[in-house]
Amino acid sequence: EAIEKGGYEHFMLKEIYEQPRSIADCMRGRLDAKNGRLVLGGLRDYMNKFQNADRIIITACGTSWHAGLVAEYLFEEFARIPVEVEYASEFRYRNPVVNEKDFVIAISQSGETADTLAAIELAKSKGATIFGVCNVVGSSIARATHAGSYTHAGPEIGVASTKAFTAQISVLTMMALMLGYQRGTLTESKYVQLLNELEKIPSKVEETLQMNPHIEEISAEYKDARNFLYLGRGYNFPVALEGALKLKEISYIHAEGYPAAEMKHGPIALIDEEMPVVFIATKDNSYEKVVSNIQEVKARKGKIIAVVTEGDTTVKSMADHVLEIPDTAEAFVPLLSVIPLQILSYHIAVMRGCNVDQPRNLAKSVTVE
Ligand code: G6P
Repeated sequence: EAIEKGGYEHFMLKEIYEQPRSIADCMRGRLDAKNGRLVLGGLRDYMNKFQNADRIIITACGTSWHAGLVAEYLFEEFARIPVEVEYASEFRYRNPVVNEKDFVIAISQSGETADTLAAIELAKSKGATIFGVCNVVGSSIARATHAGSYTHAGPEIGVASTKAFTAQISVLTMMALMLGYQRGTLTESKYVQLLNELEKIPSKVEETLQMNPHIEEISAEYKDARNFLYLGRGYNFPVALEGALKLKEISYIHAEGYPAAEMKHGPIALIDEEMPVVFIATKDNSYEKVVSNIQEVKARKGKIIAVVTEGDTTVKSMADHVLEIPDTAEAFVPLLSVIPLQILSYHIAVMRGCNVDQPRNLAKSVTVE
């Protein structure tokens, strides 16, 4: 096992560190930015269906569902097709309205999640086209879908998903860009510009990982907190949910993720000097709004840890700690902003003496209801 961990203390840390490579592997042979080309083999025979779909329905569980939420923003921004993101466990029992004009995307690391599999069978019986985004080759979900694209992240051992999540987002990003280009909702020049930016993501992830020692120091300060709040807007809202889930899963600290503006409808009542609040406050469309949300937390003496874009000074002057990530296209930010949150949960869990790779009560793949 020590050999499998490749010198890392835990699989989770190894898998966090593998992300520059797993994202690059996921894009290899698919993205050719220099020539302005992007090809997902699995989509070839289904591009017509995809392009002409009335609606995209994404179904998944856990972290994969969070990747689905990121994809909702991607597909709507680039391809202008309405998207619904469904918990597989709800979808399957709800008698949902689905028909042959729907394009269903099922996301699953293991490809074995029982609820996701059942959701697929249901949508299939109603005539929808089902596309899988799986990590495990030949898995049940990969076989049950009409077509799919593998994430190629390599085996993920840690129960808390890390590299599979960023690989899922990578595949979904490529799908959204292809779709937008084909539908003409994304201009050629914008498309090429985005492809070039996407190609730089693995090295920007590498750069982001260098914050590890800094995050370890911050973790020591907050390891005894009883609650955490994670707030973000737009593309960073699903990242807030994922950050909170990571912390809950492995450190057993209660954490909630919220869209930052929803804070005033409830969570703000919880804020006092004991409450660490993690803001994902990168320079994007909602930046100014997030800054005022930070002010609201500060006024109530909450402790602020903020993930910001490199060079940010406004948030820096307000937050207790800042974690700087490289600048990128707004749509690609989740691939970078989730990294410090993975690392934060990892260190806090280790410092609390938790079994990081195999947290209590959780399974890597949930093959029963
Ligand atoms: C379990 C795992 C999570 C995972 C979820 C969905 O709860 O612990 O890490 O996100 O199942 O799994 P899947 O394999 O379908 O992505």
